Amino acid sequence: MNWTNTIINSLQWSDTITNRERKEKVAWEIAGRIKNGDVIGVGSGSTVYVAALAVAKRIKAENLDVQVIPASAELSMTCTQLGIPQTTLWEKKPDWTFDGADEVDPQKSLIKGRGGAMFKEKLLIANSKETYILVDDSKFVDQLGSKFPVPVEVFPNALLYVEEQLKLSGATKVVLRMAKGKDGPIFTENGNFVLDAWFDSIPDNMEKEIKKITGVIESGLFIGYNVNILSL
Ligand code: 5RP
Repeated sequence: MNWTNTIINSLQWSDTITNRERKEKVAWEIAGRIKNGDVIGVGSGSTVYVAALAVAKRIKAENLDVQVIPASAELSMTCTQLGIPQTTLWEKKPDWTFDGADEVDPQKSLIKGRGGAMFKEKLLIANSKETYILVDDSKFVDQLGSKFPVPVEVFPNALLYVEEQLKLSGATKVVLRMAKGKDGPIFTENGNFVLDAWFDSIPDNMEKEIKKITGVIESGLFIGYNVNILSL
């Protein structure tokens, strides 16, 4: 039996998509990489959303047998809307993953997590032999942390302990991320808070240092991962 309501089918990207034309160009580059039988990790964010539209068109046009594992509810709902078959990390390991980023440094290290989905994004990237990061010029920085804070997903009861430890690790400012469209803080899809931590400099061991703090689920630092950068 089919549903008669239309929420999934009428969903659209919530904000304006900046640089849409350039995002579409790189989206087709991603869609062109698909091989029949692929299992693909799908990150999150507006660039990934635009790429998912192109992926769906290619799958449909060539009747490809492809499954995806999305990193967030919004991309999972988008894939449902587009008719892209989905699977999970319990069933399949991704052959490759595509995702966006908020900052990329010259060593190809990243800050991600503006959308709050960094835990599952990292899980997908860690599980994939190949990852493609789709970014426009505005994302390139000389030093990580120049424009964006480091998002840190925190178990709610550990909030103040993690704030204290982040400051001891050199954070100059730590802010609880507040929701839009709901009062109070955001909750991630895993039921946790996000602290946005600003640092003057981010040494290579910072990702591991943050991960060691009890109560931290994951951070948006991706230092030294084997990723391919696709520039728009
Ligand atoms: C979400 C992310 C996104 O990939 C990142 O924020 C980039 O988003 P956009 O493509 O909208 O600029 O990490 O958690």
